[in-house]
Amino acid sequence: MAECPVRIISMESKEEYPTPTPDFKELCLKCGHCVTVCPMGALSLDWLTPEDCKPIMEELWVTPEQAEQFLCGRRSIRAFKEKTVPRNILEKLLEIACSAASAKNQQPWHWVVVETPSEVRRLAGMVIKWMRTVILSNPEAAEAAGFTRAVASWDEGYDRICRGAPHVIAAHADKNWGFGSEDCALALGLLDLYATSIGLGACWGGYFYKAVNVYPPLFEALGLPSDHFAFGAMMLGYPKFKYQRIPIRNRPRVTWK
Ligand SMILES: Cc1cc2nc3c(=O)[nH]c(=O)nc-3n(C[C@H](O)[C@H](O)[C@H](O)COP(=O)(O)O)c2cc1C
Repeated sequence: MAECPVRIISMESKEEYPTPTPDFKELCLKCGHCVTVCPMGALSLDWLTPEDCKPIMEELWVTPEQAEQFLCGRRSIRAFKEKTVPRNILEKLLEIACSAASAKNQQPWHWVVVETPSEVRRLAGMVIKWMRTVILSNPEAAEAAGFTRAVASWDEGYDRICRGAPHVIAAHADKNWGFGSEDCALALGLLDLYATSIGLGACWGGYFYKAVNVYPPLFEALGLPSDHFAFGAMMLGYPKFKYQRIPIRNRPRVTWK
């Protein structure tokens, strides 16, 4: 009862069983907390029973030392092997990404997985095409945003947009959902971490997804619904290099109250 985020499980007295309140169905977030927290497995919902849920295995829990190295040792990968990631691994990445937190447990994300390296290259070329138009129409802004350098690199044969990654995964959601940006970023964050754990590497494609929302040919090429926004995209593949050390970051800028 105390664990339910919307407080829709009640108990008249200690002698009674907890029961759902009358507005349970319309308010339930379907977060599954009630089923997954109960030590006795006493509670089932019409869509989730204790048996449906994977048990938490103590022996798989990470130590603080493992967590610190793993979280701080993750890096944005920008050099990839010429090897594609099998479909079943891409599916597993998305499954993990979808377990992210989301506002009201809406899980608003949809995915586009660009599976073929030649298509990644073609789409990166479209971003460059868009950048060229911005350079012509607004050279100062283009320079400040790094477009001039990105285009010059492209012309010299280096792709700063997708970094030669074999895959790109874009997250999109209804543009009217107020937390699309946060929810998609969190899901992609998990995808990034899980990718690291299985020997893959990922990197946010900032230029890529920003271009998707303002350059209709790219939006259409990805096949997004007209009422959606791309809220994030990641390049993905097998890292060419292995990192040996963890860099120093800025100290937390914090006000203690
Ligand atoms: C929203 C966002 C957009 C980013 N866009 C790009 C990008 O377009 N190209 C790129 O190479 N890296 C991009 N990055 C990666 C950052 O440059 C990187 O996270 C930062 O330099 C720190 O390095 P680390 O992730 O290895 O710790 C982006 C990161 C974020 C969070």
